[in-house]
Amino acid sequence: MSQQPSILERLFSLCGKGVLVTGAAGGIGRVLAAAMAEAGARLALHDVASDRLVEPCQAVRDAGGEAFPLVADLSDVGACQKLIGEAHASLGRLDVLVNCAGVNRREPIEAVTLDDYDSINAVNQRSLFFLSQAAHPIMRAQGGGKIINIGSLNSFMGLGTVSVYA
Ligand SMILES: NC(=O)c1ccc[n+]([C@@H]2O[C@H](COP(=O)([O-])OP(=O)(O)OC[C@H]3O[C@@H](n4cnc5c(N)ncnc54)[C@H](O)[C@@H]3O)[C@@H](O)[C@H]2O)c1
Repeated sequence: MSQQPSILERLFSLCGKGVLVTGAAGGIGRVLAAAMAEAGARLALHDVASDRLVEPCQAVRDAGGEAFPLVADLSDVGACQKLIGEAHASLGRLDVLVNCAGVNRREPIEAVTLDDYDSINAVNQRSLFFLSQAAHPIMRAQGGGKIINIGSLNSFMGLGTVSVYA
């Protein structure tokens, strides 16, 4: 008798889906990528340098998935737009964009400079918009898609040294 998929496998299957995870070399991104590969997704893993992606890509392959490493500095809007094109070309489709890359500089509010402010916002806020904007026509042409933005408890609760990020 053939083994039926469990209700969890049916509900959470990502078989055939093309997924881009930004910041996939980081602590949260690499775990998300491996879990999505286990659920059947094909993965484009992004980070700021290719050597950082070797282990996360291997983890995806170990989970039975396909992994395409992609490099871009998300503080550059042009690089965000190019990244979406590369993910689409590698995967052949783009069903899910997980905006997981992020930065922080911890310091008291009095010490925050314009460069701190702009550097944090360029990645944590601006890149999300331009990545999503570039993904939009691809997802619309495919009939839909999902964009998942990883937030933080600090969205609801500031901390002494976490002002711009919050
Ligand atoms: N760690 C936590 O406790 C926590 C809690 C809540 C939310 N978050 C959020 O979850 C996300 C991931 O967190 P994490 O703990 O995995 O962080 P992490 O620092 O381990 O990973 C973030 C990744 O983003 C990449 N990145 C940073 N700036 C970049 C840039 N300019 N271009 C390209 N890539 C860049 C880094 O290289 C890194 O691999 C972040 O957005 C963070 O704000 C983290």
